[in-house]
Amino acid sequence: VAVRLADYRPADFLIDTVALDISLHRTETKVVARLALRRNPKGAPGAPLVLDGDELTLVGVKVDGRPLGAQDYTATPDQLTLTAVPEAPFTLEIETRVDPTANTQLSGLYRSGSAYCTQCEAEGFRRITYFLDRPDVLSVYTTRIDADKSEAPILLSNGNPGETGDLPGGRHYAVWRDPFPKPSYLFALVGGDLGVVRDHFKTTSGRQVTLAIHVEHGKEARAEYAMDALKRSMRWDEEKFGREYDLDVFNIVAVSDFNMGAMENKGLNIFNDKYVLASPETATDVDYAGIEAVIAHEYFHNWTGNRITCRDWFQLCLKEGLTVFRDQEFSADMRSRAVERIGDVRGLRLAQFPEDAGPLAHPVRPEVYHEINNFYTATVYEKGAEIVRMLRTLIGDDCFRRGMDIYFERFDGTAATVEDFLSCFAEASGRDLSHFALWYSQAGTPVLSTEGSYDQNAKTFALTLRQEIAPTPGQQEKKPAVIPVALALFGQNGEKLDLESADARPDELARGLFELSDSTRTVTFKNIPSQPVVSALRGFSAPVRLEPAPASADLEKLLACDDDPFNRWQAAQSLALRAIFARVDAARAGAPLPSAPGYVAALRTILSGADADPAFAAQALSLPSETDLAREAGSNVDPDELFAARFGLLEEIGRALASEAEAIYARLSEASPYSPDAASAGRRSLKTVALDLVAAGDPAKGSALAESQFAAAGNMTDRLAALALLALLGGDAREKAFAAFYAQFEGDALVIDKWFALQATIPEPATTQRVIDLMSHPDFSLSNPNRVRSLIGVFANANLTRFHALDGSGYDLLTKIILELDPKNPQVAARLLSSLRSWRTMEPRRRALIEARLRRIVAQEGLSADTKDIATRALA
Ligand code: ARG
Ligand code: ZN
Repeated sequence: VAVRLADYRPADFLIDTVALDISLHRTETKVVARLALRRNPKGAPGAPLVLDGDELTLVGVKVDGRPLGAQDYTATPDQLTLTAVPEAPFTLEIETRVDPTANTQLSGLYRSGSAYCTQCEAEGFRRITYFLDRPDVLSVYTTRIDADKSEAPILLSNGNPGETGDLPGGRHYAVWRDPFPKPSYLFALVGGDLGVVRDHFKTTSGRQVTLAIHVEHGKEARAEYAMDALKRSMRWDEEKFGREYDLDVFNIVAVSDFNMGAMENKGLNIFNDKYVLASPETATDVDYAGIEAVIAHEYFHNWTGNRITCRDWFQLCLKEGLTVFRDQEFSADMRSRAVERIGDVRGLRLAQFPEDAGPLAHPVRPEVYHEINNFYTATVYEKGAEIVRMLRTLIGDDCFRRGMDIYFERFDGTAATVEDFLSCFAEASGRDLSHFALWYSQAGTPVLSTEGSYDQNAKTFALTLRQEIAPTPGQQEKKPAVIPVALALFGQNGEKLDLESADARPDELARGLFELSDSTRTVTFKNIPSQPVVSALRGFSAPVRLEPAPASADLEKLLACDDDPFNRWQAAQSLALRAIFARVDAARAGAPLPSAPGYVAALRTILSGADADPAFAAQALSLPSETDLAREAGSNVDPDELFAARFGLLEEIGRALASEAEAIYARLSEASPYSPDAASAGRRSLKTVALDLVAAGDPAKGSALAESQFAAAGNMTDRLAALALLALLGGDAREKAFAAFYAQFEGDALVIDKWFALQATIPEPATTQRVIDLMSHPDFSLSNPNRVRSLIGVFANANLTRFHALDGSGYDLLTKIILELDPKNPQVAARLLSSLRSWRTMEPRRRALIEARLRRIVAQEGLSADTKDIATRALA
């Protein structure tokens, strides 16, 4: 069924308090819910009480303590309806049974390892008890849990701890009270035998908070970095947003089976252990950065998501876009702002741009959905964060902070909307933001172009900005958006020119920030001594595509003189793209392959100055990935052509820069103890880039260096980088290394995930069979989302030549897995299927092969709503 934003109506009833009494049992958990209900004055008068359920078994219902007879209600596994309800406030008591062991969807109450845990966002609470399972019904929860004491010595729920005690039969109980009204999706419960790391945090106003991270026994040391990240997040939110924590305890639990990254349940965050556990021996620098970001993200939700929640699921970006923006800012403050921005934009282009350009495109605030779990997308999260960033760019830091203060003050304790959010910034800045709001309702990535014309005699430079948006599903007509274009002009000697013009506001000229709110705008700059070089969209000031890229000579100049590091990096990327596509065109025409001396020279300069900022240099030296190339090509994609062209350019660079790369590699290889800080991580990433370049120019030398780095590595970052290179280079060394890696880390699931993932990336014909064989490996399991993502997700998303093999074998493999996984875990199956979302950009033969598989999937009987929704929209 379609759910529409336009159909929003307040709930007919409100639930002021919820008292849950949950007796944990492996297959028959007993749930008693006592709800204090009353009619919502804003609801429909006289409406029946209709509660949501999902696969529930009802045991009994009481109203004000009186058991109801069969004539008083109708119950199905997914709904409980009471026709005659008291007009005055009343208590509803519902008893249900749930089977956590049979819950393979990992939504509701389920088991991960030997522990019991929950995931209620978006609609998992209704798999525990019948409820008004919607985010605008806020209740104060008290939760009493009892369990076998040896099976689950630790019992946790939201809020502050209350009474505990022993019960007959080896059982015990614990009570938790959460004083803050919250929607049901923020409910959580954990019961299990877990190790714990404890710490303390004192808030600015003096509240002593006990912090605890619960992990598998024996993994406590691996939670230290997450604990440190948590304390830094708490301090940062106080300093940057004036937000303090509000309970006496903050608990985090890490579990191995989790559909997404983590969940911000009030006072009890539950995490995919991938985003908690780290040690130098088992986690890479990328893993450490991911832990820091996700710990911060979930913590920041305490204000942006929990204290202020969403009125309905169409407003998901209200909490997710804003919270991603906040975690990106946190990471930028903890690490390098420039490198963080480059990484965030790469992520946006990797995941969100293709979504926006294909059949699954939707506005940041969608207007209709069939399955809400399919809308936890890059568009809602990452483009949602970009909108908040543009807002700050447009109104400035001070107005932005004032607007946030108003938002926290005015909407605390409520379920808010995007309009509520924007109204705070309109008030703080005195600006009308109604045109800006189009970013929330209009799907598709605007294409921004610039065209300059220099007048030698008048010494003027007329710059015309243009925007255009292609139609997206259901939105044929597009309107111009408000695009903040950060801009600078550079003179022939690389000097930054003062901006003077009668066509722009003084503040635009002073800030170098020009607003494009119509289809076109021309600004004529005065006193420009010679033809300038334009640096546009600096810092990626808006989530748009800038096309075409500047002329190569201008890009080379920007690479040398731009003081905006993002645009320096962008210049290197644009040069690389141009060089690769020149090879693709030549190969298609049967012409000699062109070399790229300008780009190679630019890389040599970056390499020689790399010591100043190794992390930045590593980014600037990296070629666009095959996925980047497929997206930039946009249509008629042939992954084999792209692979060949990219590989050819890499060889050219490797040969040309062999001695420089080797010298850097040697210098950075000097052993030092591992530290996960950004500067050390930056040096390691540059070392990896240098090693990859050496191998590109001389595979035998690269293989030898990778073998010794693999054997001698003192940390996972270096070891995995070496293994990745060996995987690419092939031969005996590869198989030896994979065997040694497995032998060393057998039983360590997060590390074995890496072992599966790297094998799925090998760009050779035998890989498809290798993946099939790995699915029979004793360590492979369709029940564990991390494992499925490591092997199948990586194969389908990162190994373009093999996944898109012309014999259709990659597509067949994915289809088979989706159909097998769908009945067990529809959320993960649907997400895997999304890897086909760009199928229409493929060349015709592959397009036909994929279309046939999509049709096969929609035709499957009993297909889940999740997977059906993705397949149907992909085909539409
Ligand atoms: N709110 C979580 C986060 O972004 C995501 C949980 C989504 N889970 C789901 N099954 N849809 O932090
Ligand atoms: Zn979130």
